[in-house]
Amino acid sequence: MQRECDALRTKGKRIVLVPTMGYLHEGHLSLIREGRSRGDFLVVSIFVNPTQFGPREDFQAYPRDLKRDVQLMKPERVDAVFYPDAREMYGAHFQTSIRLSCLPKYLCGRSRPTHFTGVATVVAKLFNIVRPHVALFGEKDFQQLLVIRRMVEDLNFDVEVIGVPTVREPDGLAMSSRNTYLTAEQRAAALSLFQSLKEARKQVLEGERDAAKILQRASDRIRAYPEATIDYVAICDPETLQPLEKITRPALMALAVKIDKTRLIDNIMLCPEGMSGSDPGR
Ligand code: PAF
Repeated sequence: MQRECDALRTKGKRIVLVPTMGYLHEGHLSLIREGRSRGDFLVVSIFVNPTQFGPREDFQAYPRDLKRDVQLMKPERVDAVFYPDAREMYGAHFQTSIRLSCLPKYLCGRSRPTHFTGVATVVAKLFNIVRPHVALFGEKDFQQLLVIRRMVEDLNFDVEVIGVPTVREPDGLAMSSRNTYLTAEQRAAALSLFQSLKEARKQVLEGERDAAKILQRASDRIRAYPEATIDYVAICDPETLQPLEKITRPALMALAVKIDKTRLIDNIMLCPEGMSGSDPGR
């Protein structure tokens, strides 16, 4: 992979990477389509990275189906699928990792303390293997996107990182490979994530500025479903992820909720009306 990409780079080709863990859905396809328009050689990596899963998480159960993924990518003019195995990526003596000091203290990092070290390390490896000019990541994993942007700046990776908006099912559920775990009943409960985010956005547009009140209403709505257990619901600064008490500037509202055993995340930007930077689509 590295040899191939180096040769293309030398010929002046622009290399684009879409890193994934496979079991592709429309969210991944939108990254791939955006990626296609950004360069000459489009690489999609598929690797269920063991180091970003905690000991009691779903690494073994995570859905995998390479044939299906390749089929879904057929119409998208992908130039290469990079599909390493864990032994290739992490040899027996592997011992180097990338740990960020602040961003992982918040949101998902609180209940998944080793997750972002696993993500940053594998993405750094993918960048060194594929040597892309551009890499694309979904905004659904907003904290991951911030972690990668910070790593790229801190360690001088010569990669342009592009965030792509979340793709949703027609009823609003954010696309995720983990949605396949949900039964019909659990799926109805899962809708409370986006509904509570949308309601928060409405409250802000109607003039509510008190984060605690907005968070309370969102939590109540989610807790109305007995199968839902909240990991966090937070309103925070969209760059540092530090909690905000008042919404006087664009803020990120993010949440993680377990629907039975399935952990789902989602987020939205809250923008006081008339404020520049407001993007009602997010
Ligand atoms: O977002 C994902 O699918 C993964 O975290 C990533 C970026 C491919 C790293 O394993």
